[in-house]
Amino acid sequence: MRLPVVSQKRSSAGFQSAMSAREGGYGIDYKKIWSPDVEKLMSIIPKRYWDDFHLTLMTINRDIPAHTDTEIITTINFYLDAGGDDIDTIFFEPLVDKPKTFQIENQIDGYIFDKSELKEVGRFRAKPMECWTLDVKKIHSVEGNVTRVRKAVTLGTFVHNYDAVVEMFKETGCLPS
Ligand SMILES: [Fe+2]
Repeated sequence: MRLPVVSQKRSSAGFQSAMSAREGGYGIDYKKIWSPDVEKLMSIIPKRYWDDFHLTLMTINRDIPAHTDTEIITTINFYLDAGGDDIDTIFFEPLVDKPKTFQIENQIDGYIFDKSELKEVGRFRAKPMECWTLDVKKIHSVEGNVTRVRKAVTLGTFVHNYDAVVEMFKETGCLPS
């Protein structure tokens, strides 16, 4: 199995378990997983970097406000279920020099932003079996009518930025160089 990189987008991902869906709550959750197909998934990046990425199952059961992620710099998301028919990942830039930020439990270097101080700069609507790579240090939200659990297998890294990951895809042939 070779999953193509159908597109890439800069975004921001990861409160880890902030707004956690664990214990029946609403929000986003990451679980470390193992898969017999792990080597096939990892083949999207050169083997020498494998230790720098961790495999998780991300589940989302509600819309997610504009935020930057905690710890994760770049994530490669293989979407299994979009969670609904009209759900977009939206990216923002601040309209002001120092936008107001909020932090909730479990957020370390990630923040939540007030949308009134942001302007939209792009969005995508993930479909099942699509792979999107997100710059999760950019401000992003997940918006739409979440009617099912949104699921993605993710390869996240605390080490490599978006541009470095794109170069890895060129090396493995997943993107044209
Ligand atoms: Fe995020």
